[in-house]
Amino acid sequence: MTEVIHNSTVDTLLNRTSIRRFKPDMPTEAEINTLELVAQHAASSQYLNDWSAIRVVDTVLQQKIAEICHQPYVASAPLLYIFVLDEYRNAQIAKRNGVDVYSDEFTLRNSYRFSQAQNDAVLALHAMETAGESMGIGSVILGSIHNDMDEMIKLLHLPEYTYPVLGLALGYPDQSPAIKPRMPREVQFFEDG
Ligand SMILES: Cc1cc2nc3c(=O)[nH]c(=O)nc-3n(C[C@H](O)[C@H](O)[C@H](O)COP(=O)(O)O)c2cc1C
Repeated sequence: MTEVIHNSTVDTLLNRTSIRRFKPDMPTEAEINTLELVAQHAASSQYLNDWSAIRVVDTVLQQKIAEICHQPYVASAPLLYIFVLDEYRNAQIAKRNGVDVYSDEFTLRNSYRFSQAQNDAVLALHAMETAGESMGIGSVILGSIHNDMDEMIKLLHLPEYTYPVLGLALGYPDQSPAIKPRMPREVQFFEDG
């Protein structure tokens, strides 16, 4: 096997597994602050920062989200964020500056803008996930919030030009799952030509 460079970032990424059982303790304020700051520092297409994240603090709401996910453990995660594609904020700023949000100048008509905003949200979530892992905070990504998108939008009171992209449940791990194997490199990485 070819040589692998080991440093704390690489090892954090190589040792990561999804965590679905959490200790009840809430991560510290400094840890939460760090997670949120790191997410904000992810790259952002055209520097538009068109994502938001909602930290779920209402336990009743968290229970409802767990039901949408069909995954009871989601209700017991100490921290739960829903990352949202958010063109609403930029649309408000544009409107305040007299820009027609349906013009070519703004890009709401353009699916490119929405796909890039979704990428931004995913990158921010991934930065948070990795930072968490490096601090001993485990997590699992929740695509299952999409089981009922309409209900998620309603529960989170999301405005126009927004939708939930992914959830991220975090907390101190109460399990040590084995690292799942990956495919042989040659069936996933190719060279052109
Ligand atoms: C976009 C995305 C959505 C996911 N949604 C869920 C989910 O709804 N529930 C869940 O338990 N795990 C979810 N996962 C976690 C995957 O199941 C997990 O990453 C995969 O099985 C590989 O395991 P590992 O993360 O431990 O390496 C999701 C992962 C990604 C990237």
